[in-house]
Amino acid sequence: MEYKIALIPGDGIGPEIVSEAKKVLDKVCEKYNHTFTYSEVLLGGASIDVHGVPLTDEAIATAKASDAVLMGSIGGDAKTSPWYKLEPSKRPEAGLLAIRKALNLFANLRPAYLYKELEEACPIKKEVIGDNGFDMIIVRELTGGLYFGERKTIEEDGVKKAIDTLSYNENEIRRIAIKAFDIAMKRRKKVTSVDKANVLDSSRLWRKVVEEVAKDYPEVTLEHMLVDNCAMQLVHDPAQFDVILTENMFGDILSDEASMVTGSIGMLSSASLNETKFGLYEPSHGSAPDIAGQNKANPIATILSAAMLLRYSLNLDEEADAVEAAVQKVLTDGYRTGDIMSEGCKAVGTKEMGDLIAAA
Ligand code: NAI
Ligand code: MG
Repeated sequence: MEYKIALIPGDGIGPEIVSEAKKVLDKVCEKYNHTFTYSEVLLGGASIDVHGVPLTDEAIATAKASDAVLMGSIGGDAKTSPWYKLEPSKRPEAGLLAIRKALNLFANLRPAYLYKELEEACPIKKEVIGDNGFDMIIVRELTGGLYFGERKTIEEDGVKKAIDTLSYNENEIRRIAIKAFDIAMKRRKKVTSVDKANVLDSSRLWRKVVEEVAKDYPEVTLEHMLVDNCAMQLVHDPAQFDVILTENMFGDILSDEASMVTGSIGMLSSASLNETKFGLYEPSHGSAPDIAGQNKANPIATILSAAMLLRYSLNLDEEADAVEAAVQKVLTDGYRTGDIMSEGCKAVGTKEMGDLIAAA
């Protein structure tokens, strides 16, 4: 089959890790007889350097014309990069928020999976995790809530005051809840909806709509959990979770927390989907300017994101399984980038890791 994939290398380690993921996708084409046509899209600092803005209409059009987008990461070092002398709406991160909105990517999926081989790197004791390891996914609402609500800074009687607005309507809650329940049906059939319903009106509406959606999924067990308790439970007993469903900011924070439970942020993939099959796939980490250009970055998060792209946007489950199995094999064979290194393992760089996974 033929598919169009837009590639966004981005900034920092972005170009290095995207190039390794492309290596793996090329191998998939070779083995399974597909043709992927790539078009490169500038976003973030890379776009500012060329066009003076972090996202252009042309970039959005190229992304929209493709079947899926694979992205590295964007942004630079806030202290030293000239991009951060620009006003906030012109900085790299503004481009990322704008492309998510333009492509209507309201559902952010972040799996957190602990490989047996990486248990040593996990900061939580084996006794706490239990024998089955853990394998969960956070389904985070991505285009509403505090990050997109009205914000302003005003002055009242000579005192500055800043206001951010957290709002959700029923439709926004319903569509993300449906995604979470659909995903739970293919997994262990448990949804934990996380909110702060003891305080926030937006959370009380969230809970009501999630309960309505749950009626269509009688096989799925639904539980509600307050966000502060969830933060604690992720460290106390992470294996209890299957699918966590939550709003934008809670999901941002909890997914970074969940990522640490797996050992390294360099292992974590993500998908951002709209109501069609289209999606944008990227590692959960940032552009890691501290290690950019040094062949040190772990490309696995990006390679696993490419596997999600195959699965969710192109419906190529067998190919996605093959990529995930290749990652597993290379870890079993003892190869590690610096962020997941442990005693007795073989140290490799970004390129070597990509080569090994492609070969596997
Ligand atoms: P970061 O995730 O880039 O780095 C945090 C730490 O993790 C650093 O020590 C880095 O070296 C390490 N790290 C990250 N990815 C790694 C990988 N694949 N392999 C090995 N080590 C890895 O977060 P930070 O430093 O807060 O942000 C750096 C820049 O990235 C900022 O400009 C930020 O705005 C941007 N950012 C972009 C995101 C995106 O493109 N979606 C998401 C998060 C941050
Ligand atoms: Mg974050």
